[in-house]
Amino acid sequence: MPGAIHAEGLVKTFGDVRALDGVDLDVPEGTVLGLLGPNGAGKTTAVRVLTTLLRPDSGRAVVAGVDVLKHPNEVRRSIGLSGQFAAVDEYLTGRENLEMVGQLYQMPARAAKARAGELLERFNLTDAADRTAKTYSGGMRRRLDLAAALVVSPPVMFMDEPTTGLDPRNRQALWEVIQELVAGGTTLLLTTQYLEEADHLAHDICVIDRGRVIARGTSDQLKARTGGERVEVVVHERDHIAVAEQVLRALGKGETTVQEHTRKVTVPVVGGAKLLAEVIRELDNRGVEIDDIGLRRPTLDDVFISLTGHGAEEDGADPGRTSADADQAPAGTAGAAGTTGTAGTTGTTGTTGTTGKGGK
Ligand SMILES: Nc1ncnc2c1ncn2[C@@H]1O[C@H](COP(=O)(O)OP(=O)(O)OP(=O)(O)O)[C@@H](O)[C@H]1O
Ligand SMILES: [Mg+2]
Repeated sequence: MPGAIHAEGLVKTFGDVRALDGVDLDVPEGTVLGLLGPNGAGKTTAVRVLTTLLRPDSGRAVVAGVDVLKHPNEVRRSIGLSGQFAAVDEYLTGRENLEMVGQLYQMPARAAKARAGELLERFNLTDAADRTAKTYSGGMRRRLDLAAALVVSPPVMFMDEPTTGLDPRNRQALWEVIQELVAGGTTLLLTTQYLEEADHLAHDICVIDRGRVIARGTSDQLKARTGGERVEVVVHERDHIAVAEQVLRALGKGETTVQEHTRKVTVPVVGGAKLLAEVIRELDNRGVEIDDIGLRRPTLDDVFISLTGHGAEEDGADPGRTSADADQAPAGTAGAAGTTGTAGTTGTTGTTGTTGKGGK
């Protein structure tokens, strides 16, 4: 399996922190694995181990058919990496940065130039191509870093939060590039906090928390595990959230989830439309005014919250809370350790123009 990624029992500790606590991963050749997990779960550590940047305490990994611990240099020749923090040379222009990567990989000068031009275009950097990278905005640097990872098309790619900080148009552009790569046979391990992105791009999803794999499967399998339909209510007034939560807890089958800033309360249900009518009646009886109500299938966000007990992006705005932690839930406060300046958005069910998963 020359293009596959395989890891067994990876352990990495930093002092008392078990960043990886026995992680097994398998990414068949030509597929995309979405590695999800809350901040500090161990995603970047896993990527660093698999890309030879960090030695694990124990475990083994084979990437592109080569043992990562025994032959790191050989592995490096078969992989591309775009890290969580953009690594570009500030004093070179965007174009020079990309041409330099081509030269490092011993591409002929003309081919390196052509490839640089093509990537600058794909990532909407043509206008800024001849300015030094130190004049670039955060999103521009990020795009340049991604373009640099794509100058050569290695059989195995690792992308650590590739679209964090990208606007929707540029995110879409990257998704298209990724889908083309995968259609061409590239194997990709991608970490993301945008669950919609994993839903869209990944064939398989692996959720890690505190250095351990806590769930794996396709997006549909994980959603099925999380249960069936749920009722989602948006109340008109913030003061009514608590009553709505009571009503949903009584009529639903499982934990309620509250998102304070959107005044949204959600609960898994059995009984579909009939139950929905009952919820509406009960809320009306209690004098709760409703802005929006509906039945919906679980999203990957629901899966994430039910598995980890908290939402993705804890550092961002209100991550939502579940009834299990309602008492101590500091909704809307910045809580998690090891923060990284990621944007405070949650990747919910927003839709995009494209369909299907790369290479499927
Ligand atoms: N070089 C280091 N020294 C000490 N602790 C570290 C180091 N690198 C990572 N850690 C710790 O290991 C744990 C896992 O970190 P890691 O960066 O892998 O998380 P992550 O899943 O990538 O999180 P994020 O979503 O915030 O990027 C965290 O508790 C982190 O503080
Ligand atoms: Mg990380």
